[in-house]
Amino acid sequence: MKWPAVIGMLAIVALAWGVLGLRGAPEVTQPIAFPHKTHIELNLQCTSCHDRAEKEAVAGRPRTALCLGCHGGGDATGEIKKVQAFEKGGEIPWKRVWRLPPHVFFPHRTHVVVAEVKCQTCHGPMETLDRPPARPLRTLTMDDCLACHEERGRRVEKTAARGVVKTGRALSTDCNACHR
Ligand code: HEC
Ligand code: HEC
Ligand code: HEC
Ligand code: HEC
Ligand code: HEC
Repeated sequence: MKWPAVIGMLAIVALAWGVLGLRGAPEVTQPIAFPHKTHIELNLQCTSCHDRAEKEAVAGRPRTALCLGCHGGGDATGEIKKVQAFEKGGEIPWKRVWRLPPHVFFPHRTHVVVAEVKCQTCHGPMETLDRPPARPLRTLTMDDCLACHEERGRRVEKTAARGVVKTGRALSTDCNACHR
């Protein structure tokens, strides 16, 4: 290959990288190398640790006291020692990975409890991770949100037409439901 061809190809790659957003979101490094997989294998539910997801808009992260219930006491090394450093109080400063722009409102409770959408539908296979995700495994654009709302809305209309109304109200695709 001639130099101009190589430079041309590099330029195309650089352009694709920038335009298609292949760089993605910046990588997040967590204070402790928490493995989701190990804990799901103990038969813990997602909501054993993210219990706020069933009650509030935010899902939240577990309090350090919950970790110490299993990892407290005894001589520890490595990552567990880091967990125990919080034994005297204070919360582990986990960083956010999933985050919508501030003008969008997203209620977890509505989706988890009322609509019974599985966590994995929006977050991907968290149970397979042996280290914290540096980036979201899956993200939702406005079109993704609307697609599900419209599809569920049609389903509600169909059952209503058959006279078996499950949900009393049509699903909102109104701007104000999500933008506040
Ligand atoms: C033993 C407690 C525990 C269990 C069980 C658990 N998680 Fe987590 N989760 C955490 C901790 C700690 C973090 C922060 C560290 C990290 O990102 O790995 C976290 C982070 C997350 C995040 C990223 C949150 C953010 O800040 O953007 C998602 C999404 C998530 N968990 C989903 C799940 C799902 C889905 C399940 C079930 C398959 C699950 N978790 C089970 C403790 C738990
Ligand atoms: C129900 C008990 C239980 C809870 C609650 C729990 N863990 Fe664990 N955790 C375990 C077990 C069991 C293992 C696997 C055996 C081991 O390495 O100690 C493990 C493994 C780990 C490891 C990997 C250890 C290594 O050497 O690499 C980390 C890190 C960890 N847990 C952090 C946490 C954090 C942080 C929390 C709170 C968000 C938490 N755990 C909550 C039981 C628990
Ligand atoms: C319908 C899609 C959807 C479902 C279902 C869902 N999430 Fe989320 N989750 C999101 C979105 C979108 C965000 C970012 C929200 C924001 O920035 O306001 C998020 C953020 C989070 C966060 C970090 C921010 C916070 O709220 O604490 C955690 C942790 C989380 N989800 C865990 C879970 C768990 C656990 C489940 C299942 C019990 C679940 N999610 C179900 C879409 C979903
Ligand atoms: C079901 C929830 C939902 C509804 C309904 C909704 N949006 Fe959005 N909107 C989002 C989410 C999530 C984002 C951020 C993610 C993205 O940009 O795709 C967003 C982003 C936007 C943005 C910013 C785009 C950008 O490039 O930053 C605009 C503008 C917007 N919405 C306008 C509207 C208008 C106008 C309506 C009504 C016709 C509407 N939205 C209805 C969820 C919604
Ligand atoms: C997999 C399907 C699915 C996805 C994806 C989804 N939603 Fe929803 N959402 C629902 C269902 C179903 C309901 C209605 C639950 C009920 O009240 O019956 C709902 C309700 C809502 C409500 C409450 C509306 C009201 O009228 O009270 C808001 C706000 C909302 N969703 C925002 C979002 C945003 C923002 C996203 C994308 C980040 C999103 N949803 C993605 C299924 C979904």
